[in-house]
Amino acid sequence: LQTLPPVQLAQKYFQIFPEERDPIWQDPCEDKRHKDIWSKEKTCDRFPKLLIIGPQKTGTTALYLFLGMHPDLTSNYPSKETFEEIQFFNGRNYHKGIDWYMEYFPLPSNTSSDFYFEKSANYFDSEVAARRAAALLPKAKIITILINPADRAYSWYQHQRAHDDPVAQKYTFHDVITAGYDVPIKLKVLQNRCLVPGLYATHLQRWLSHYHPSQILVLDGQMLRTEPAAVMDKIQKFLGLTNTLNYHKILAFDPKKGFWCQLLDGGKTKCLGKSKGRKYPDMDVDSRRFLREHYREHNIELSKLLYKMGQPLPSWLREELLHSR
Ligand code: A3P
Repeated sequence: LQTLPPVQLAQKYFQIFPEERDPIWQDPCEDKRHKDIWSKEKTCDRFPKLLIIGPQKTGTTALYLFLGMHPDLTSNYPSKETFEEIQFFNGRNYHKGIDWYMEYFPLPSNTSSDFYFEKSANYFDSEVAARRAAALLPKAKIITILINPADRAYSWYQHQRAHDDPVAQKYTFHDVITAGYDVPIKLKVLQNRCLVPGLYATHLQRWLSHYHPSQILVLDGQMLRTEPAAVMDKIQKFLGLTNTLNYHKILAFDPKKGFWCQLLDGGKTKCLGKSKGRKYPDMDVDSRRFLREHYREHNIELSKLLYKMGQPLPSWLREELLHSR
């Protein structure tokens, strides 16, 4: 038997077990041995109980804003780097560890009723986020929002154009979604970001292999857009919150913005910024046709999955299924 100073010991260890270089953080309070060696000052109440996982461009920011209006719910502090999402479970931030993650949530009060939540819209289609989230937050509730994947792809393309992405400036949406294999890599990357998150059944299945169906709520993004108060009623039931907030009274449709916004005292509205709810031309007919075909099988799979989960089909999905007969 032989030992080494800590750094060399770690190097030796990872030489023998290279697969363990990628850590998986578990909830320290789930295992007594872990809890016993954890700092007395730390608490598992400082983790979120709800994750909004995306995907991007489905209305996640609106939902985040609406949830933040609820007295029982507390959102994360904005990311110090991006001033936005934490993006812990999907990428490199995960390697910064759980203390880093916890810093994004306030120190819990003594009431223990704190219900923290965060939204990071690229958790949904990440290969690793579901497994990692389930290891750390096995009891969490998960919300995903689905809109027609064709519209999601188009919204992402418009988002990239608005951010002056030269590839999105150079190629039309139709060019992007129909590009073959033999095209510049940057075009392929944009194509993937437009199309891959929309393979809803594949991604949802991944989350279902780590969370019980009763922990996952699938929202119709179209409904969130047109009847947000009704959607918020549904969410409050799903979360089992003590206080029920009447969103019918605190949200108002802003005709200028064309979306539902927070109603402030004095009748004014506070809407999301310019980057949410952009104005752009309708999608061209050929692209719509192409995407309908592209997503046909995946949408059928999604409908079977939702049926198994006992969740209603979003209106856009019912419409797409009618077209695929
Ligand atoms: P567009 O800007 O393409 O219309 P996310 O926040 O996940 O990035 O989603 C952005 C999308 O949310 C917007 O896409 C918009 O259609 C949709 N949305 C839904 N409800 C909204 C609201 N109340 N205010 C602004 N955008 C909303």
